[in-house]
Amino acid sequence: PATPPGGGEVPAGSDVILLGEVGALSGGQATFGISTRDGIDLALKEANAAGGVKGKKLAVRVYDNQSKPEEAAQATTRLVTQDKVVLILGDVASSNSLAMAEKAQTAGVPMITPSSTNPKVTETGDYIFRVCFIDPFQGFVMAKFARANLKLNKVAVLQDNKSAYSIGLTDVFTRKFTEMGGKITTTESFSQGDTDYRAQLTAIRKTQPDAIYVPGYYSEVGVIARQAREVGLRVPLLGGDGWDSSKLFELGGSAIQGSYFSNHYSPDNPDPKVQKFIADYKAAYGSVPDALAALGYDAARVAIAALERAKDLSGPAVRDAIAQTKDFPGVAGTITLDDKHNAVKSAVVLKVGDGKTEYVTTVNP
Ligand code: PHE
Repeated sequence: PATPPGGGEVPAGSDVILLGEVGALSGGQATFGISTRDGIDLALKEANAAGGVKGKKLAVRVYDNQSKPEEAAQATTRLVTQDKVVLILGDVASSNSLAMAEKAQTAGVPMITPSSTNPKVTETGDYIFRVCFIDPFQGFVMAKFARANLKLNKVAVLQDNKSAYSIGLTDVFTRKFTEMGGKITTTESFSQGDTDYRAQLTAIRKTQPDAIYVPGYYSEVGVIARQAREVGLRVPLLGGDGWDSSKLFELGGSAIQGSYFSNHYSPDNPDPKVQKFIADYKAAYGSVPDALAALGYDAARVAIAALERAKDLSGPAVRDAIAQTKDFPGVAGTITLDDKHNAVKSAVVLKVGDGKTEYVTTVNP
């Protein structure tokens, strides 16, 4: 179903440039979609207040994919065939973005995912872009952190076998951690939406790891953390950006405290443009923006800058303009798109504290 954008009904007419957005506003990834939508809305409001693009105002048509790839694909088809948007923003979860990318590429409508990190998303074709780093880097970051900073020797892995993101990260982490002299004690799997992980966790406990790498999303990770403690595992969990949600603290409680994950951005970054974004976002939505909000904001601003530069609003012209993005000052890092349409950026490692994360370190590519 179409959800009205932050600004109310989408105005129609030739004085408006219509963008499309597909996000998880409900289901197991709901905080991803809500934060992303709010970040995008903030960028559009700012751009409209500054006069819009090419003398026109910007509006966005948002569809909820309910955290499902099939819905994401259908919503994308609707955006290109019915709404005739000039470009599409979304989604977060790589499996959803993969489903969207195929449709956007076939239709020749540019798509920018703010935060999908699986390499295959932009490999789908020349109309697909991202403003974040990719998982081969993110997996390396946590492997290196586990070896060099935490001095861990033996790590178990618990992966989500329904998620392209989780499968990809498992692969990279396993390879890098092993190359660095570490040992993977076992790799267990679950399927997104499962609620009982005790059998896998018990198998993991028997291998006596120093930590468990869980490259999943917050809704499962929070529950996994609690059940790990229940089966007697006291070691920290390690993860990736998919942990980033205020819900992680609620679901994981004290069981998730002391665990670490890699991410795109830290609200503790003292950079004035980051702090200004945080203040503006807080004023508008009442909470500290997470990485999804920051990347949604960045993706929308990269899109707006490209629309302004493009010689017209046709698919090829907008695609070429996005591809030229260089040294763009994003709040989640400076964005230069490489020839594979990915941003090359640093990552941060965050520690889970009591109701908030603590910045630990930054790793450059
Ligand atoms: N990188 C994740 C994926 O590709 C999505 C994500 C990004 C989740 C940032 C949380 C924060 O599936």
